[in-house]
Amino acid sequence: MVFRHPAVSEREAILDLIAAAFPNPRARQRAVRDAVASDPDYEDARTIVCAAAGRLVGHVACCATDLALGGAWLPVARLGTVCTLPEARRRGIGRRLVMAAAALEPRAGAVILDPAPEPYVRRFYETLGFVAAPRCRPMRRLAAEQLPTGAARGAVRDAVAADVPRLAALYEQHYGPQPGHVRRRAAWWESRVARRPLLWSELLPTVRVLERDGQPVAYVVASDDDDLRIWECVGSAEDAGALVADEARRAGPRFNAHVTRHDSLWPAVLGWSNGDAPAQATSLMVRVQSVPAAQAALAAQLAPYGASVARAALTWHNDRGVIGRAGATLTAKWSHLLALALDGRCLEEWVSAGSVTIQPASALAAMVDLFPVREAGRRLTDAY
Ligand SMILES: CC(C)(COP(=O)(O)OP(=O)(O)OC[C@H]1O[C@@H](n2cnc3c(N)ncnc32)[C@H](O)[C@@H]1OP(=O)(O)O)[C@@H](O)C(=O)NCCC(=O)NCCS
Repeated sequence: MVFRHPAVSEREAILDLIAAAFPNPRARQRAVRDAVASDPDYEDARTIVCAAAGRLVGHVACCATDLALGGAWLPVARLGTVCTLPEARRRGIGRRLVMAAAALEPRAGAVILDPAPEPYVRRFYETLGFVAAPRCRPMRRLAAEQLPTGAARGAVRDAVAADVPRLAALYEQHYGPQPGHVRRRAAWWESRVARRPLLWSELLPTVRVLERDGQPVAYVVASDDDDLRIWECVGSAEDAGALVADEARRAGPRFNAHVTRHDSLWPAVLGWSNGDAPAQATSLMVRVQSVPAAQAALAAQLAPYGASVARAALTWHNDRGVIGRAGATLTAKWSHLLALALDGRCLEEWVSAGSVTIQPASALAAMVDLFPVREAGRRLTDAY
């Protein structure tokens, strides 16, 4: 077995492998294959394949990005399409693919990924030291007839390539302070604006903008054949509301959107909404790779709460950190600390299971404040 970067001539074989391993029939469609070929996250230097007996049996892609942590950004390696052909499984190929991909970004504070939903996939990553940070997106249901009917202050149109820098800035301004979001590169926006087909979804979202004084001041990402029509919505309550209302007009009777309390138009939505829709739950898996980088980002996130972050003394491999606050300490592996910083809902469970130690035990309530339960502010899929 050889683990290496693929050759240009192996791109089609990689897509055949993805099609067979997940399985994902979309990976066999010509337009999808062309879109993946132009995606910088799938460049040869960003991917690792495993070759055995003259054919490809495993693949992983790894992109360098940053993870938002309440105001701080942690450099991370983000893995995608980790897969082994069914007939080559349980021989250690998946484990070595993950190791090789993580090694492409030695300075990354953590390795992160969105696991496939099957429980065995989560177990696979747990055996490699990953911890699941739960995410949940509470939603409110809107109905078209409840939305405002007034005219937008500006022109509503499809986004074009020239809007990309402004779209990226609006995204970062809005989602950057919310833990769990990842930075997007310009190529990501360019392919969304160009409506290149997606590897993981049949849906093809459109980016619509509200333009005023010659530049976008709000955007909405929406698909036209799906219950969750609005994927993402950014701008002031008034501007984002105008875009959603415009979507409702375009959609006709099929309009149905879900909006979270993080969305700009939340205050307005409270007046229009029919109430809560069932929340979607999923997780982001994280594994700390560089302790100094993770320590610095956690320290920046927790400093406003008067908490400090240090390495635990005398631990095996220095793999544990200690959070101190008002004379109390919380000790855990760095990956657990990072997962808690993204969403604190597991804190009590992990204390009971012994993965997290709080001293004195009576300080649990003070530590709960440090790690609030988070809500993901946009659609919980990285399929687009
Ligand atoms: C997940 C996947 C990549 C694992 O690949 P693999 O080459 O079989 O993994 P490894 O042999 O390195 O397994 C490492 C360890 O993970 C665990 N593991 C892997 N597959 C498992 C399974 N089906 N059930 C339980 N544990 C499993 C085991 O502890 C295993 O060690 P062991 O075989 O010594 O017990 C592979 O099953 C796959 O391609 N699945 C379909 C695509 C997919 O969903 N990928 C994940 C995307 S996020």
